[in-house]
Amino acid sequence: MSILKIARMGHPILRRVADPVPDPTSAGVAVLVQSMVDTMEDADGTGLAAPQVHVPARVVVYRVDPSERRGVSEGVPLTALVNPVLTPLTDEIAYDWEGCLSVPGLVGLVPRVTRIRLEAETPEGERIKREVEGFHARVLQHECDHLDGILYPQRMDDLSLLLFADEMRHGPPEKARRLMGLAPRSESGSDADEVEEEDAA
Ligand code: NI
Repeated sequence: MSILKIARMGHPILRRVADPVPDPTSAGVAVLVQSMVDTMEDADGTGLAAPQVHVPARVVVYRVDPSERRGVSEGVPLTALVNPVLTPLTDEIAYDWEGCLSVPGLVGLVPRVTRIRLEAETPEGERIKREVEGFHARVLQHECDHLDGILYPQRMDDLSLLLFADEMRHGPPEKARRLMGLAPRSESGSDADEVEEEDAA
């Protein structure tokens, strides 16, 4: 078990473009992936990209748990991708909250395309080519942005929707609800569970 130090916003490793991995099946990649998984699970994150642990390589790990709120009926098991390439398959944009282990304490409402093609290799030597949509597509876009030196606040179009996660207890901003296509808050407003989990990635 090896838990690595996580780089925070402002560290130069998070701004640079990560290098392609020549041999995804190498022992070095296997060790890196295991350490990334240990680090992600220790931090209770949804995903982690290698630059976040100070390694400038195109490797990401993530896991998507089933979530009614996020419209995820079946989750995605723990997955490691090497040299992933994403291609948008639609212009359709959806807004949802994102957090990031490199931007601790904050959450932001981020627009992302809703459907992408994923091409990648795995540490087991498989080649993946598939279409991905919804929250899974969001997680992949967030993680692959890390490989290009981009953090989620750079994808936001309204920085008034960048908040400290623990202030969400007051309820999300109305504008965020509108952008997410949710009904206005009711008077009784017990909708705190809409923002219950801001999976940090
Ligand atoms: Ni992140």
